[in-house]
Amino acid sequence: MTLLTGIAELTTNADAAAPTATIADAALLIEDGRVAWVGAAADAETAVAARDGGRLSTFGAVTAVSRSEHLEVVDVGGRAVIPGFVDSHTHLVFGGDRADEFEARMTGTPYAAGGIRRTVAATRAADEDVLRSRLAGFVSELHGQGTTTFEIKTGYDLTVAGEARLARLAAEVTEEVTYLGAHVVPEGAGRDDYVDLVCGPMLEAARPHVRWIDVFCESGAFTAAESERILRAGAAAGLGVRVHGNQLGTGPGVELAVRLGAASVDHCTYLTDADVAALAAGDTVATLLPGVEFSTRQPYPNARRLLDAGVTVALASDCNPGSSFTSSMPLMIALAVREMGMTVGEAVWAATAGGARALRRTDVGQLAPSARADLVVLDAPSRRHLAYRPGVPLVHRVYRGGEVIA
Ligand code: NIG
Ligand code: FE
Repeated sequence: MTLLTGIAELTTNADAAAPTATIADAALLIEDGRVAWVGAAADAETAVAARDGGRLSTFGAVTAVSRSEHLEVVDVGGRAVIPGFVDSHTHLVFGGDRADEFEARMTGTPYAAGGIRRTVAATRAADEDVLRSRLAGFVSELHGQGTTTFEIKTGYDLTVAGEARLARLAAEVTEEVTYLGAHVVPEGAGRDDYVDLVCGPMLEAARPHVRWIDVFCESGAFTAAESERILRAGAAAGLGVRVHGNQLGTGPGVELAVRLGAASVDHCTYLTDADVAALAAGDTVATLLPGVEFSTRQPYPNARRLLDAGVTVALASDCNPGSSFTSSMPLMIALAVREMGMTVGEAVWAATAGGARALRRTDVGQLAPSARADLVVLDAPSRRHLAYRPGVPLVHRVYRGGEVIA
């Protein structure tokens, strides 16, 4: 067992009546990789004793390592603790980068989905070991910034064997892999033939490695009819549904996602009132990706409008070489608070519990008894500092399944 004490402010996401509440002067007990108890530090002694046959009733004065071989007491020194970040949207298996496009955008060139084809060429040309070691680098980058659960999409190869290769590599580092054969129609392919391939042999080849299917439903990528056909093929193969929609303008993505019962529709930058109403009435999470607006100079999505309508909102990085080459969830929180009308509590919830909802997970994104012990000890007394001190590395220590990983 490990007892974390000295927590100045604990975010659990576990109080249904007050989802963004915090506990001051808190403690948290970890047992077998899971959260065993959370509460006021003053109650920790009783809680621990109840779990250890009463033998630890005298540990209260100990601040470093306890006398019991069963219990390690870690005093986090007046820092804040939050659940590990759940980044429910990334594209981390790819070759090359597109720094030149980013630079051009900063002087006025607009973002265009066609740039995806450049990364497709670089990814096809990349050796498997190079992709694997690059991915390992991204995983440590994520862990170091407090992300303990993350999703990865395919979509930068767009051939049958190549999409299966990307899915297999992603599955080596996460259980949340998404098949995105429908990212764009590759150069030289006919639209209808390509959609047939995505729904048939390519889906079959990726299937053993993936949990989700996604489609880029946007003008310049796939139409509503094509998207629906692809998503239905994935669902028939047993995959959960996700959608990239409403990124570059209003469009059919949100309506389609809600109608098909997608777990999440991602981007949601341009929404009509009907889209907001559909999201509020449905069961689909709206995942906002402000790294994209930061790096494409589009207007930020209006999170306040969604929250006020009762929509469940998640924040994710969309880390990819084209539209958002950052894996920083603290940056997403800072942008959401500064630019999108979210409170700090809402933004932290969206980056943890919201991401878990978007992946239909209940074992992560919260620090309630029996949840996986995934948490971040911040180098700050309050989670407010995540927005208040943008760009400053505020991750002191990261636990995943009760083990220190960063
Ligand atoms: O989520 N929108 C589609 N796909 C990515 C961008 C991919 C790229 O530009 O390489 C996104 O923003
Ligand atoms: Fe994306």
